[in-house]
Amino acid sequence: MIRFLENYSLQSHNSFGINVNTKYFFEFTELEELDIFLKSNKTVQDEKILMIGEGSNILFLTNFDGLVIHANIPGIEIVHEDRQNIWVEAGAGENWDELVTYCVDFQFGGVENLAFIPGTVGAAPVQNIGAYGQEAGSVIEKVKGYDLDKQQFMEYSKKECQFSYRNSIFKSKLKNRFIILSVIFKLDKFAEFNLEYKKLEQKVLELGEINLQNIKKAVTDIRSAKLPDVNEIGSAGSFFKNPVVDSDVARKIETKFKEIPIFEADNGKVKLAAGWLIDKAGWKGFREGDLGVHKQQALVIVNYGNATGMDIYNLSERIRQSVFEKFGVELEREVNCI
Ligand code: EPU
Repeated sequence: MIRFLENYSLQSHNSFGINVNTKYFFEFTELEELDIFLKSNKTVQDEKILMIGEGSNILFLTNFDGLVIHANIPGIEIVHEDRQNIWVEAGAGENWDELVTYCVDFQFGGVENLAFIPGTVGAAPVQNIGAYGQEAGSVIEKVKGYDLDKQQFMEYSKKECQFSYRNSIFKSKLKNRFIILSVIFKLDKFAEFNLEYKKLEQKVLELGEINLQNIKKAVTDIRSAKLPDVNEIGSAGSFFKNPVVDSDVARKIETKFKEIPIFEADNGKVKLAAGWLIDKAGWKGFREGDLGVHKQQALVIVNYGNATGMDIYNLSERIRQSVFEKFGVELEREVNCI
């Protein structure tokens, strides 16, 4: 089924709840519909294109003068299995948490720590969603989609996806050029649990046995206590990435703030917690009209009502500036600003 609309409001298509319009909006549920639409619809061929899922990692600064495409492909199915692993293919339009529920219900391990992350399956590889020591990229075997430049269906293997911390080829070289249609996950029948995140381990033990169900439940409980429910308060989860810096930078901050959380990263560098830096710079719980910084997690900027995209962007700039002044660390936005 397709929907093609003109001058359409995106308010219900972005978790910040920003009311902007797009010149064109195209939604489809079957692969062939996309190919036919793009090849036959001359009016939209030269438009600027933006792909969205549930819009849970996007901030619209203004109306979008182009074509927004929503691949609403449904379906979750097992495509292959052996003694150890099971391969599950999910359509880009499936809700991410529903895929996690499916996997946990069938005892397929590998995505349980990623429970309750807002968004679609199709968006998961783009920013390589991650939480509690797990990243989607590590269980993604293949990403299938449509290349707008080549006008053909293509597949990317895990290696070709170039996954790194909150990044992939779909966010860099293939940005706005590749429409993700489905993702194949390689999951484990005899999962090794990842409880390196101490608060998670504690929560799971409180629930009882260490198993996929309890891990999912613990993650869901932790997330719902700390992060705003996007159905109630507009937000896009973490607004910034956790900065990776030289260890001397971290040690220098540590001389003044003994309690600073420091995590090891690649190449002898370290990762700092952006939420901690923003919190220490005094922003946690900040509120100005409909704009705010979440009370429980300073990394999350919230829209309590009618804040505009520019209001949110300007607040993020003030936060970046103040963190830089206090700690000499530059924060990089994680949210995609359009
Ligand atoms: N902290 C504070 N104050 C705050 C927030 C955090 O002191 O206001 C401290 C915490 O106490 C902790 C450290 O900073 O010592 C890290 O905080 P937390 O464990 O909450 O995780 P995070 O680094 O802030 C990242 C992801 C989240 C993910 C969690 C759990 C990024 C940008 N964010 O947050 O992902 O759920 O870890 O793994 O990597 C998202 O991407 O939208 C997202 C929510």
